[in-house]
Amino acid sequence: LPHAEETLSVDNEAVIEQLQQEFHGSYPETASPSNKVQSQELVAAEAEWGILPPYQTTVWTYNGKIAPIIRIKLGETLKLTLHNKLPQATSIHWHGVRLPNAMDGVPGVTQPAIEPGASFTYEFTPKDAGTFWFHPHANSPEQIERGLQGLLIVENPDEPKYSQDLAWIVDDWLLEKGARIHDRFVTGHDLMHDGRWGNVVTVNGQYRPSIPVKPGERIRIRMVNSANGRVFAPAVEGIEAQIIAVDGLPTQSPIRLQNFYLAPGNRIDLDLTIPKNAAGKTFAVLDSFGQKTNTLAVLQVKNTTAVTTPTFKPIQAKHFPDWRSAIDAPVTHEFMLNAMRGGEHGITWTIDGHSGHDIIAQKLQAQRFYRLRFTNLSYRLHPMHLHGQFFQVIAVDGRPVREGFWRDTVLIGPKQSIDIGLVPIDKGLWALHCHILEHAEAGMMTTIRIQ
Ligand code: C2O
Ligand code: CU
Repeated sequence: LPHAEETLSVDNEAVIEQLQQEFHGSYPETASPSNKVQSQELVAAEAEWGILPPYQTTVWTYNGKIAPIIRIKLGETLKLTLHNKLPQATSIHWHGVRLPNAMDGVPGVTQPAIEPGASFTYEFTPKDAGTFWFHPHANSPEQIERGLQGLLIVENPDEPKYSQDLAWIVDDWLLEKGARIHDRFVTGHDLMHDGRWGNVVTVNGQYRPSIPVKPGERIRIRMVNSANGRVFAPAVEGIEAQIIAVDGLPTQSPIRLQNFYLAPGNRIDLDLTIPKNAAGKTFAVLDSFGQKTNTLAVLQVKNTTAVTTPTFKPIQAKHFPDWRSAIDAPVTHEFMLNAMRGGEHGITWTIDGHSGHDIIAQKLQAQRFYRLRFTNLSYRLHPMHLHGQFFQVIAVDGRPVREGFWRDTVLIGPKQSIDIGLVPIDKGLWALHCHILEHAEAGMMTTIRIQ
């Protein structure tokens, strides 16, 4: 192991004990299965798709679609067989879903890759309701960029009903003349920067789609950032939207949507109401992360009389631990994020000076509180994603913060250091990596053993 675990003083032991106690009841430790099984078949194969009609782009899809959406109910078991009709080996990772380790879909860590022509069945009962993403975990800079991915929505029948429940995969594509996908992946340029940033931003594979809504409707928009490298800062023009869930789980209370950095791998669920007097108007959903504002989609209000706006309290976390004293817990491990010259791609991205998931960076005990630190020694962005667990940000550059929600992915800015609090529950070998796919491919990937 790169670093030895610190020995804790008696005082710290008491703090940790208290943090662990606060955690309990934050989310279920086991799933309560309803014994209903949803069986699905997915075929991963090449298809044609109109990202920029009238052009057709050759893409890689599940069942011929960009952004297929699988909806199941909390308690149901998903039994999904993937048939690989691609020219290369693949797998499916269920991003953000707490499931048995063997179903996590990471070749070389939790399963062998699914070879061309072969099939594999994933079967699990998600423990949480919410918005989740699924994507290949094999040669992901190419496979995800070519379009291979979808959304898994786990509905909780007890949650209030919105007028519309929309699910959006927000992505960017690097297209050439004739809307062809630029087919050089993991270039030196991508590696020296924040991965591959495209020139066309889409929602569910469509450029600036126009989404029909009615005056008075209350809408839930589930958004995942599935770009290889681009960060989005979503905003709805002229409407105040509230964030009601982050990375799948409900927030402690609604948070006004403003300057939220939706990094690759992050999800947010929004709650917004179309004004009653807005018949015939449009509201743009924008991304204002970069210097140039992008329009993601346009809410096109129909010219009809207003519908009754459903009134209810938005979902919120059942129990949210007060982890203010987490700042007194010792840092268990500091992950050093940095680049090195050399390696297969010319640049190697490293965690603690190592590259690749054949390393176990840390062994952690289930049910125990840990404070982990990510220190970015580079000038690039690193959205760090931990499989199979949720964590809270407890400090930025050593100063305590309280975000009011759980995450599975956190963006570490240039030269920034971020501390997270974590009580792992599910045992196994879990991947930890940068979700800028080019950085991960060039080494920024490790594993954590939870025992
Ligand atoms: Cu979204 Cu390791 O993955
Ligand atoms: Cu990175």
